[in-house]
Amino acid sequence: MVETLKIEIEHVKRSRLPEVDFTNLPFGKVYSDHMLMADFRKGSWGGFRILPYGHIPVSPATPAIHYGQSIFEGMKAYHSSSGEAMVFRPLDNLKRLNISAERMCMPVLPEEFFMEGLSTLIDTDRRWIPSQEGASLYIRPFMFSADEYIGIRPSQDFTFMIILSPAGAYYSTPVRVKIETHYTRAVQGGTGYAKAAGNYGGSIYPSKLAQDQGYHQLIWTDGKAHQYIEESGTMNVMFVIDDTLVTPALSDSILAGITRDSVLKLARHWGMNVEERKISVKELVDALEQGRVKEAFGAGTAATIAHIEVIGHEGVDHRLPPVEKREFANKVYKELEAIKRGTKPDPFGWVV
Ligand code: COI
Repeated sequence: MVETLKIEIEHVKRSRLPEVDFTNLPFGKVYSDHMLMADFRKGSWGGFRILPYGHIPVSPATPAIHYGQSIFEGMKAYHSSSGEAMVFRPLDNLKRLNISAERMCMPVLPEEFFMEGLSTLIDTDRRWIPSQEGASLYIRPFMFSADEYIGIRPSQDFTFMIILSPAGAYYSTPVRVKIETHYTRAVQGGTGYAKAAGNYGGSIYPSKLAQDQGYHQLIWTDGKAHQYIEESGTMNVMFVIDDTLVTPALSDSILAGITRDSVLKLARHWGMNVEERKISVKELVDALEQGRVKEAFGAGTAATIAHIEVIGHEGVDHRLPPVEKREFANKVYKELEAIKRGTKPDPFGWVV
């Protein structure tokens, strides 16, 4: 039986909106007035409430802190031309949240709870959706164990939350990436396909080493022999080699990105050759040396499309063609932005 969701709302006394410079929004530093919270207790979800954004009480003994039992999602909301809030593919994010939940031994969140909580929160803070080009309201749903127990066992209590952040571009310039052949983001049988907090925590140190060498990010390779390309930074990675769009096939060590899926669907819709398959480091480096890699980019919610300008491998930097010449990545970025903002038809029914 579908329960009706009751959401209590406590409004802020004074909005922080007038203090925000919407013409100069960094990524992930500004948060809207309100947040959503819900509790999983005794086997069911309840206590859905919207309250002023702020610090939350957390037990110092929670497995979320000690053992990383925490998962998250990333989505974006935009203004339509008539001023309505439009969210891009939220049900796909929920599906993935629940896949992550299963892997991390956490409870699934029913669709009606997720959608009702999300739309009530966005409606409460709709004035926080930026209308500036390149900016959007970044939506961060997340769930973590709320047990007070430092033994290892499946937790019983959980908290689900959504916070909202008006944000500009994740990367302001094309990125320089290094193919990582020592450290690993994810392994077969691990949690790479889940959006689990620990996947990101463990990636910070190798990424920092690459940054110290002048790169923005890494291209991750498989954990077995570092022979195959997996992802780039916190995004899926794609290449246009000759006239074909190539991206690593999904596996249990690769996150099934929603931007990845959207790019592939649009490319196929436009009749482009698309290959989802293993790409070896050798194949990529040979193609770079032969000048056959026309485009390379990361695809993710936060960055949408992040053009890659340099790929470093074993001390050699391979420079890619200038961004202005990248027909596919520029076209797909524009198309996705237009669909998300409702200025172009949405042939796949992505916008809610
Ligand atoms: C997203 O693109 O939503 C991500 O998960 C990136 C985030 C780690 C900043």
